[in-house]
Parts: sequence; structure tokens; C-alpha cells
Amino acid sequence: MRVLKTTSYDAPRTDGFAFTAENKAKADAYRARYPEGREASAVLWLLYLAQEQNDGWVSNDAIEYVAAELGMAPIRVYEVASFYTMFNLRPVGRYLVQVCRTTSCWMRGSDAITKACLEEAGTASLGEVSDDGVFSVVEVECLGACCNAPMFQVNDRNYFEDLTPESARAVMAKLRAGEEVKPGSQSGRAGSEPQDGAKTLLHLAQSPAPAGEGA
Ligand code: FES
Repeated sequence: MRVLKTTSYDAPRTDGFAFTAENKAKADAYRARYPEGREASAVLWLLYLAQEQNDGWVSNDAIEYVAAELGMAPIRVYEVASFYTMFNLRPVGRYLVQVCRTTSCWMRGSDAITKACLEEAGTASLGEVSDDGVFSVVEVECLGACCNAPMFQVNDRNYFEDLTPESARAVMAKLRAGEEVKPGSQSGRAGSEPQDGAKTLLHLAQSPAPAGEGA
């Protein structure tokens, strides 16, 4: 096993966080993807693992641990974690609701979506964790689903699109109740098709695609 040197700064304090055996094995595999001396290139992978293991946020102890794993100064790991908004530097609810507030979503009512989400969560401000630990709501920049604005993302996976304050509340109520929720458009349209049906390429709907071409 390679020994990483940490000589140009104080040795990181790692007693408050450690990878599980499973995550340690994953971390070792990620680190091995990079040449000797370039282990720091795996920092995003290890931060993701740390955040996943630490209930959705990266604590200072986790940052120090990742630094020790990669032979990096803790401040360099902190710089990465604080630069990318997908890393949370304080505790979050079990469901992190990320409301897009950029142009398309804002013009389509994201302010009202954020307000509804905060009310449904029972929190007074962005980033606050609800008393039951289920929700925290934040605003983020464009998530690339502008054709289905307004929208929010829950945790690191699911997009909920074409929201109204009512449907945003309904999604969150189901999440809180542990019920199944269907990601994607909440208005019933398929993908990003026009709300009232196709307007162009209508002939394609009447003629099957030639063999070998996609649907
Ligand atoms: S502006 Fe909201 S997804 Fe792009």
C-alpha cells in the first residue's frame, strides 16, 4: 500500500470521522485510478463518499479525514468542498429540496415554489432543517430542466418539473408520509412536449420509424 506523506502542514485530525469498510474499499479504488503523486485528483470522489456516509453533508472532521486519505492539506479539501454547491457544509434534512431560481424558473414562478416548499417543510428560512429532520429547502442555479420550469431537485437524483405551489406541496407531503412519488413533470405532459400536444413533425406520429432507427 502506498503511504501518503503529509509533511507541509499539521497532520489532519481524523478521530471524528472514518469511512466504513465498504467506503474505504471504494475510496482505495478511486485513488488507484490516478498516478502516484496525483492522488489528490480523487478528492471529488472521496468527498461524495464522505457526504453520502455522513447523512448528506460534509463535516470538518470528514474534510480532515479525506485530506489524510489523499495526503492533502485540509484547507485544499475545504476549498473544493466549499466551491462546489453539491457539497453541503452543514447538516441537511433527509430530503434536500433544491428549488431552481434561475431565469426560466423564476419567470415561471419559482419564488412561489420556494415559499410553498418552506411552508410545507415548516422552516422559516433557506437551509434550515425541519424539526422532524425530514426537509431542508435551498435555492440553486439552473439545473438544466428549463423547458419544464419551474422545478426542483430532491437529493442528488430526482427532478420534479412543471411545478405549481400546490403540486410542490403534494410532492413534499408524499415524501414526508413515505409514499411513492413519481419524478418528472407534475403537470402530466411527457418530457418537454408542448402542454397541448405536438405542433411540429406531426407526420412522424403517423409513420413508423424505419427499422434500425430510434423510436
Ligand atoms: S432555469 Fe430552472 S432549470 Fe434552468
